[in-house]
Amino acid sequence: MINLGVNIDHIATIRQARGTTYPDPLDAVPICLAAGAGSITAHLREDRRHIQDHDIERLAAIDGLHLNMEMGATDEMVAICERLRPAACCLVPEKREELTTEGGLDVVGHQARLTKVVARLTAAGVRVSMFIDPIEAQIQASCEIGAPVIELHTGHYANLTGEQQHQELTAIRDGAALASKLGLMVHAGHGLTVENTPAVCAIPEIEELNIGHAIVADALFKGLQQAVSDFRAVMKR
Ligand code: PXP
Repeated sequence: MINLGVNIDHIATIRQARGTTYPDPLDAVPICLAAGAGSITAHLREDRRHIQDHDIERLAAIDGLHLNMEMGATDEMVAICERLRPAACCLVPEKREELTTEGGLDVVGHQARLTKVVARLTAAGVRVSMFIDPIEAQIQASCEIGAPVIELHTGHYANLTGEQQHQELTAIRDGAALASKLGLMVHAGHGLTVENTPAVCAIPEIEELNIGHAIVADALFKGLQQAVSDFRAVMKR
């Protein structure tokens, strides 16, 4: 069964919009887990626009929680991750001006630095994943720098339609097959909805999906538990 990681950033986005103490993204954790999520993802951004340091610290302190900390590969974030030692970490590119993570990490272009970051986090016991576009050179480079996992960026697939979407799905499928041949574990995420998720789940090498925006959006109308379980229902292979 594919693991579902629920990204709870946007619960914090609502809280930060009003500068209140609610809604608390941590309140989502037991609901998501009860509805079939296997892990929780949270992105501590450099600008702290949604998840705050106290959120990630409290998440890391939850006994038995498989926490996937998303972060840029900066010295500040690496130090926080080394200290908190979440089960997993996903390295993403980060620009202050973007609305969300808009492209995959350029592992090829930052190979030397990322090799050191992966080594440090691995030594801290964190399973590191590289969020990359389904491009052969980026997959090869992720393997070369010692990352055990890649997360294939599905955002372009989600935004396209028709033949273009089909081509992007083919690139994701080929990328997943190559990564698996290289011994990498394959995850995917970004822009996934109840409608576009089944085709991604049909790719046999994909072991985990990380989904946030659509779950929080669906939760507005049907509640978080139902939103998560509806995703789980379409994630059956
Ligand atoms: N995976 C990564 C690496 C991301 O940066 C994000 C967005 O924070 C997601 C998955 C989830 O994307 P979405 O919120 O569009 O479901």
